[in-house]
Amino acid sequence: MFYEAKRNDHGLQFDPFKSCVVPRPIGWISTLSREGIPNLAPYSQFQNLTFDPPYVMFAANQKTDGSRKDSVVNAEQCGEFVYNMATYDLREAVNNSSQEVPPEVDEFELAGVTKIPSKIVKPFRVEASPIQFECRYHQTLRLPGNGVMGTVDVVIGEVLGVHIKDEFIMPDGKLDILKMRPIGRLGYYDYTSIESIFEMAIPGPNEDVRSGMEGRR
Ligand SMILES: Cc1cc2nc3c(=O)[nH]c(=O)nc-3n(C[C@H](O)[C@H](O)[C@H](O)COP(=O)(O)O)c2cc1C
Repeated sequence: MFYEAKRNDHGLQFDPFKSCVVPRPIGWISTLSREGIPNLAPYSQFQNLTFDPPYVMFAANQKTDGSRKDSVVNAEQCGEFVYNMATYDLREAVNNSSQEVPPEVDEFELAGVTKIPSKIVKPFRVEASPIQFECRYHQTLRLPGNGVMGTVDVVIGEVLGVHIKDEFIMPDGKLDILKMRPIGRLGYYDYTSIESIFEMAIPGPNEDVRSGMEGRR
């Protein structure tokens, strides 16, 4: 099938678009409001952008009333945010933290997760999450959209600090992703979690390319 995105006339009972780029990692983003209230929300429009220095981004559509999401406002005003990895064990808390609640609500409490201080930035980290990035706000790219919620704020941050729980580092120096079991979005109400891994090296003689890909130092 083919349909023009502008028309969205796919004719299916459910909009297929969000299932066409999958699985999407979930950035569980924590911020602090100007008043000092901790905020936590999942963003599946999330990705790392580059690695030297590392940058990440999350893309926030508008709230149902057309205002900007709290994570965006806070990241811009406070100048910092934290990425927490969303895992299978934390899935209910991740989901609970997605409720649209007023900025006065501490969403760590709403989600039922313990917060711990960061080392460099002010926003808290989710203690139970195996990986957290402390990020300095860099820039917001605002893309125009259709309707109240269509407009999107792409928030970019530079990663200043990386926390990895020791129990998830294997003796060979790689991360134990199967043990972390990160979850990803598949569109609809559907998710996946990482339960298998396969290995594949880039073919060809260029050892620099290969070791760069593997992350070898
Ligand atoms: C798994 C999951 C992924 C989500 N991804 C996004 C996203 O990429 N962009 C977005 O605008 N909202 C996304 N949402 C909805 C937000 O989490 C929700 O609007 C939340 O209330 C925003 O909180 P905030 O205003 O505190 O930032 C997602 C929700 C869930 C459950």
